[in-house]
Amino acid sequence: MQRIALTEELSFSRVIHGMWRLAEWDMNPQERLEFIEQCIELGITTFDHADIYGGYTCEGLFGEALKLKPSLRDQIEIVTKTGIKLTGDYNPGQKLNYYDTSKEHILSQVERSLRELNIEQIDTLLIHRPDPLMNPDEVAEAFIALRESGKVREFGISNHVPSTQNLLQSRLPFQLVTNQLELSPMQLKHFEDGSVDLCHEKRMPLMAWSPLAGGSLFKEEHYAPLREKLEEIRTRHDASGIDAIVYAWLLKHPATILPIIGSGKIDRVRTGVDALNIELSREEWFEILKAARGRDVD
Ligand SMILES: NC(=O)c1ccc[n+]([C@@H]2O[C@H](COP(=O)([O-])OP(=O)(O)OC[C@H]3O[C@@H](n4cnc5c(N)ncnc54)[C@H](OP(=O)(O)O)[C@@H]3O)[C@@H](O)[C@H]2O)c1
Repeated sequence: MQRIALTEELSFSRVIHGMWRLAEWDMNPQERLEFIEQCIELGITTFDHADIYGGYTCEGLFGEALKLKPSLRDQIEIVTKTGIKLTGDYNPGQKLNYYDTSKEHILSQVERSLRELNIEQIDTLLIHRPDPLMNPDEVAEAFIALRESGKVREFGISNHVPSTQNLLQSRLPFQLVTNQLELSPMQLKHFEDGSVDLCHEKRMPLMAWSPLAGGSLFKEEHYAPLREKLEEIRTRHDASGIDAIVYAWLLKHPATILPIIGSGKIDRVRTGVDALNIELSREEWFEILKAARGRDVD
């Protein structure tokens, strides 16, 4: 598996696994451990989390599995996020969902993530969404304290556009290492709003969330022409599924995009890894773009 360097000391596997849906997979701790080990055998060592996933339960489910084999910790990189506060049992009395990038919230959620994940250090912490009330000086204070205490190695953002990325970066004494965005043929906006370009300019690898549009690629009627085109290209490359062609489309982009696989089925994860062996031609890349947008380039 190809490795992508984020800094001199930290690299991610080119294909990442995302744990958003972990609570839905109905696995016991041993099965969760086996799933993580199978990912590692395929070369996927980077796992994506957020404090809120599964209604604040997924980090704990992952940590429970890690506890069964603590030596796995040294073989993997853990990414997690904070900055969203959801209503529910975890936040009693809270009346609506909102963003919180205060120093206090970041620090307390990191303590919780470390506890839940059963680890001593988070490899990369992301601010989950741009917070209109973000005070970048305060976020910087939190990041510096977390780095100095050794609780977090590196920091990044998610769903940020160039203005919010630049604003936070302007207050930090070190470089943000990634932006995690929804990127796929079904979600093209960040290819067009400058977000991908800014990361490319900074040579900052991107993480692509919901690369299969959360599974709706396979179901929704309006994706039928795109599915047809992906199937045609899949046949040409003798690939195991149209999902592999979508991952290959992301992998071809020169900005260095790391797809986050969201499936709880190891065969589908394997298909994602197989995409690393698929080399789409420039023409095929544009065939997919055309099928996704429903129009030719100008
Ligand atoms: N930063 C953010 O704001 C943000 C937002 C959303 C997600 N994320 C991250 O991105 C990761 C991936 O997102 P995602 O889960 O939405 O990814 P995705 O790959 O777009 O969607 C995964 C869903 O598609 C289904 N699926 C996969 N292959 C399929 C196939 N061949 N046929 C039918 N269904 C198929 C999966 O079901 P099975 O499990 O049954 O295969 C799963 O329900 C998340 O785990 C999370 O880490 C980040």
